[in-house]
Amino acid sequence: MLHLRQNEICGDSRPRLSRRAKLGAAGGQRCSLHKGMPLAVALTLAMAGSGCRIDMHVQPRVNPLARSDFFTDQRSARPPVEGTVARGQLRDDTYFYTGKIGSNPGDYMPFPVTKEVLERGRERYNIFCAPCHSRVGDGNGFVPSRGFARQPPSFHIQRLQKAPLGYFYDVMTNGFGIMPDYASQIAPQDRWNILAYIRALQLSQNASMADVPSGQKVPSEPPSFGDMGTGATLPATTKQPSPQAGEQK
Ligand code: HEC
Repeated sequence: MLHLRQNEICGDSRPRLSRRAKLGAAGGQRCSLHKGMPLAVALTLAMAGSGCRIDMHVQPRVNPLARSDFFTDQRSARPPVEGTVARGQLRDDTYFYTGKIGSNPGDYMPFPVTKEVLERGRERYNIFCAPCHSRVGDGNGFVPSRGFARQPPSFHIQRLQKAPLGYFYDVMTNGFGIMPDYASQIAPQDRWNILAYIRALQLSQNASMADVPSGQKVPSEPPSFGDMGTGATLPATTKQPSPQAGEQK
């Protein structure tokens, strides 16, 4: 804005110029400004264009954990006002978040078990648990086979078959013995998904003909596995039709 006014004063019209000549030194100064004008305008435009402005763009803030003299305790990070709960952090469904009723593990699912729940549970189980507990849950995972401090127990021993669902939830949440907890890696919903899948594994390893719904058939011979896989690779069945040596040529 200032530059435009200068431009008016130092305009090119003849009468103005002649009047300025009479002004002497002062007039001369103004016109030397005029000579620098294109640069000044260009600079102003460049600054405005690049967002170089000092108004609401520069906001007062503090770095994380920085000291503040504003509060008496000098902490710039303020604790939440007492009694406030952040959205999504109410956690009033204690069973869902602890697997416990009072101080005892409960034995029911907090949501219906669907095919999706079991599929998600299998996926998470194979990622987080199978490296030690193995894909079938017998405790012969890859990590113990390489000398992990202790072999995990099989999920198919009677004690763990009878263990309530909330117990598995608690082991994942708080760890057990030398097994670390998975609270920060596995969200509560996924812990339930996993334990539903463990229960399915337990059934699968101990099923009897009575468990087969009437009218359905079980293949008479279970597949037999040759290479059990490492946890990262799937087990290979020995019954796969293998090409004959002669056919390969
Ligand atoms: C790093 C290897 C490792 C991983 C991964 C692991 N566990 Fe374990 N788990 C163990 C070991 C070792 C034990 C036995 C701990 C002991 O007795 O000190 C164990 C024990 C258990 C037990 C039995 C507790 C009991 O009463 O005997 C359960 C249930 C269990 N784990 C569930 C899980 C689930 C679910 C996951 C996946 C989220 C998982 N574990 C992942 C190593 C592991």
